[in-house]
Amino acid sequence: MTIATGRIRDKSLSKALRPTTAPGELIMTVVRFVSHDGKTHAVPVEEGQSLMQVATNNAVPGIDGDCGGEAACGTCHVIVDPQWSECVGPPGADEEEMLAMNPEREPTSRLSCQMVVSDVWDGLSVRLPEFQM
Ligand code: FES
Repeated sequence: MTIATGRIRDKSLSKALRPTTAPGELIMTVVRFVSHDGKTHAVPVEEGQSLMQVATNNAVPGIDGDCGGEAACGTCHVIVDPQWSECVGPPGADEEEMLAMNPEREPTSRLSCQMVVSDVWDGLSVRLPEFQM
């Protein structure tokens, strides 16, 4: 996807996972939400937003965000593509407590409200569980 946003891609980051672009090409960071039935929602993101905010602002089905991002409800659970888990990082302590109560938790599960979007996440893919807590 090539969109003039005024930002130039840093070619040194996650190179193997990014689509090919010409040097200096202007792009927009895109994250993919994959629902439990395989439907994909590709959403443009801005650095500094939470991934839950991105999903709810773009009406991605399956992310509720009932507590508004306080890591207190678990309705923003996502499963990070294992290829991206190191780049995204592990859950924090409060997040870990909430995830521990989730029967659909997987090794790369995160609460999307606790994930602050970074420009290096261009191409990130997260899967949504069939049910939120
Ligand atoms: S929005 Fe409630 S835990 Fe993330």
